[in-house]
Amino acid sequence: MRLAGQVALVTGAGRGIGRAVALGLAREGAAVVLAARTARELDEVAHEIEGAGGRALAVPTDVREEPAVAALVRRALEASGRIDLLVAAAGAAAFGPLGETAPSAWDEMMAVNLRGPFLCCRAVLPAMVQQRSGTIILIGSVVTSRTLPGSAAYTASKYGLLGLARVLAEELRPHGVRVGVLSAGAVDTALWDAVPSPPARSRMLRPEQVAEAALLMAAQAPTATLEEITLLPAGGVL
Ligand SMILES: NC(=O)c1ccc[n+]([C@@H]2O[C@H](COP(=O)([O-])OP(=O)(O)OC[C@H]3O[C@@H](n4cnc5c(N)ncnc54)[C@H](OP(=O)(O)O)[C@@H]3O)[C@@H](O)[C@H]2O)c1
Repeated sequence: MRLAGQVALVTGAGRGIGRAVALGLAREGAAVVLAARTARELDEVAHEIEGAGGRALAVPTDVREEPAVAALVRRALEASGRIDLLVAAAGAAAFGPLGETAPSAWDEMMAVNLRGPFLCCRAVLPAMVQQRSGTIILIGSVVTSRTLPGSAAYTASKYGLLGLARVLAEELRPHGVRVGVLSAGAVDTALWDAVPSPPARSRMLRPEQVAEAALLMAAQAPTATLEEITLLPAGGVL
């Protein structure tokens, strides 16, 4: 068990990538605090972890809301006394040409994909800095290395995330806290349900494969840091 005794906070943990990451971290011995808005999905993941002998705490949270994120981190610290790992996987995607992108859709993309991770990082920092250890993993996207027409708002949010991560990594390095971005190509999750003509699902990554890469980042020895990973479907599908 590579993460025995550690406490992880995973956002977006109700389904898709966040769920797979939460299950993977729990299998490696971490106690996992699960956050997303849909309580039913969080409870299902918590039961799955506990059924396998792990520890989980479901805390319904909207990562766009600062008081909710503060309360989430408070709950995690009350329950476990420390936070070793944050995986920010809550996110959303909406696609369409820029000229047809409503300002409200742009704002929503920034709120979930950029403000959310910002708030979560900011909220766990005091505990990690005090511990002089911790790992933050932000789920980015291949759109920051391959240009995808029709994804301006999503791409801008993920470039923002990458910039946030790079600055935060330097700010936290002296404190023994690691920050990395895991940028994935297309993953077969519900995120694609609302996308017209998505790539073939059978050629996409599985959420468990993304979770495996997150584990690799989380389980590095404290003297090493995996800061940026791009994981693509071998077929090259975006
Ligand atoms: N799927 C892909 O192809 C792909 C590729 C690269 C990167 N990513 C990134 O991976 C992350 C996860 O995506 P996914 O594919 O796993 O999507 P998903 O299956 O739709 O899951 C998204 C998760 O985020 C949560 N979430 C959404 N808005 C939230 C909010 N305001 N507050 C709290 N939680 C919220 C959702 O729960 P609730 O709705 O219940 O809140 C859900 O648990 C996203 O950042 C996405 O950009 C995905």
